[in-house]
Amino acid sequence: MKHLQVALWGVFPYVALILFFAGSLWRYRYDRFGLTTRSSQLHESRLLSIGGPLFHFGLLFVLAGHVVGLIVPEWLTEDVHVSEPLYRANALLVGGVAGTATAAGLAILLWRRLRVRAVRAGTGRSDRVLFPVLAAVLLAGLTATLMGPVSGNYDYRLGVSVWFRSVWELDPNVPAMTSAPLVYQVHALLGMALFALWPFSRLVHAFAAPVGYVTRPYVVYRSRGAGPPSGARTGARR
Ligand code: HEM
Repeated sequence: MKHLQVALWGVFPYVALILFFAGSLWRYRYDRFGLTTRSSQLHESRLLSIGGPLFHFGLLFVLAGHVVGLIVPEWLTEDVHVSEPLYRANALLVGGVAGTATAAGLAILLWRRLRVRAVRAGTGRSDRVLFPVLAAVLLAGLTATLMGPVSGNYDYRLGVSVWFRSVWELDPNVPAMTSAPLVYQVHALLGMALFALWPFSRLVHAFAAPVGYVTRPYVVYRSRGAGPPSGARTGARR
């Protein structure tokens, strides 16, 4: 049993991280033009335009919540007068709403993928692994958050978060995780599996998100027949 716990919480995190970073590098080197979501927008756009933003914007808030909850230690939030009950109430409200929006968005996207024939036809082997894992990660996370108040209010910032930080310090605190309720353990294991799958699935499109689009220079259009703009040099080419 002890060996299994060390394998799950002391070794698997590094296997997942190596797969994530090495796989992404490999994909970038050898399949740079394949870093795409393999968009199916041409086949169906109405459900996509609802499910897509719901999933992605919800996920942005969920991930922001993880950064605070897993990285910022409890003593630091208490130092700035955010008490544990206040933090918990806030996490329940914001995390609950964001997590529900993300799960609802994913449900719409999955429904579309199963019901629209052309979209289903474009569903590959990696999707058949990815989507169930993604759905399970979200459901386990939401269950942990929403069950909190009725299951004795486990303080994950004194357990899961301590383990999470210890992984990055290269000194994994296995007991901090084995003493967490099962739903947290399942959630974290599935979360790591998702990162291991990342480079080998359509999730790689996150690396090709067109963020530069926001600051790119304007594209100047000119009509075909228009003469040169006033003040422009009209002389022959040198
Ligand atoms: C090793 C990786 C991860 C760890 C350690 C982790 C840990 C946690 C913890 C401690 C909670 C809070 C439960 C509570 O409020 O009591 C949570 C909630 C949640 N997690 Fe994760 N998580 C991980 C990865 C992920 C990933 C990759 C996703 C989504 C793709 C995700 C989605 C969620 C959702 C939807 C919730 C519930 C709503 C929320 O709090 O935002 N988690 N997770």
